[in-house]
Amino acid sequence: MSNQEQLATLVDAAVADFTAATEPAKLEDAKARYLGKDGSLTALLKGLGKLPPEERKTVGAEINRAKESIELALTTRRDALRNAQLETQLAAEALDVTLPGRGRMRGSLHPVTMSLERIEALFRSIGFAIADGPEIETDWHNFTALNTPDNHPARSMHDTFYVTGVDGKVQPDVLLRTHTSPVQIRAMLAHTERYKHLDTLPELRILCPGRVYRVDSDATHSPMFHQAEGLWVGENVSFADLKGVVTDFLRNFFESDDLKVRFRPSFFPFTEPSAEIDVAFMSGALEGRWLEIAGCGMVHPNVLRCGGFDPQKYTGFAFGMGPDRLTMLRYGVNDLRLFFESDLRFLKQFQ
Ligand code: DAH
Repeated sequence: MSNQEQLATLVDAAVADFTAATEPAKLEDAKARYLGKDGSLTALLKGLGKLPPEERKTVGAEINRAKESIELALTTRRDALRNAQLETQLAAEALDVTLPGRGRMRGSLHPVTMSLERIEALFRSIGFAIADGPEIETDWHNFTALNTPDNHPARSMHDTFYVTGVDGKVQPDVLLRTHTSPVQIRAMLAHTERYKHLDTLPELRILCPGRVYRVDSDATHSPMFHQAEGLWVGENVSFADLKGVVTDFLRNFFESDDLKVRFRPSFFPFTEPSAEIDVAFMSGALEGRWLEIAGCGMVHPNVLRCGGFDPQKYTGFAFGMGPDRLTMLRYGVNDLRLFFESDLRFLKQFQ
């Protein structure tokens, strides 16, 4: 076989080998067999030195041409393999831009939260500050300071949850507050302490929304529920002010000018006189029915004294209402427990 034929066979073999390589690593192995350090073409180039000088030039040129052919075949195959790999990857990672988007869940305020915000806004608009107090309360703030001493029968209506200390023993003086009324005491004490250098204390006007707890559970009672406590103490605060403020608030809250509001005599240890507040709607499913929504009264002198106010000089009114109840009435919800079950089918209706 002539030198040229030998080279042509080698080139053919290389092209066939490259074509047979179906992945880049195999192609590189094939390349090594021809162009590598011990490759067959490299061996031919190395052998050039042994040829007589007059042949070296022509044979060298032929070998180089063969080498170029092999290198060309190699790069062509490399590109082909790389393109094929890219095609596979693109196909695997294909994005269908015509698919409809995945909707994003949108949260919204809980209906009771909406009511609390509404109550706060309405009272702020007439000069009440929003007050806050702890949900884990002392027996003194929750009962005693509110004119409800140990063994007072009113305590039995406020059965609650007690707190265990680090020693594992129940702390009889620490409980989950049964109403927001203890915030009256805290707010009065902070106020009278803050302004003790003044001859006459500025008026105290607060509204305290919050969670309260009782051992109670049925369609209209939940062991945790909400209250909003109002308190206005000053030099000339009267029952007429209480009626005006509460009536005006309720008509605004329910957006109903002809809402009927009734103050029915009642008893609370921390107010004297005391009343229950009832409302009646002039239209809708509950038309004409009286519904109880709050307790109220003139702050008892003993309570004013516990808060640091002189009951000879200052008077005040207080009320405690149930925002859960107000929300049920505003939206026509008939079971209180729905508010606390976190069922999205229910909650979504308020979005
Ligand atoms: N704390 C009372 C309760 O939970 C409600 C209440 C009644 C609050 C009369 C008051 C009030 O401030 O004056 O049953």
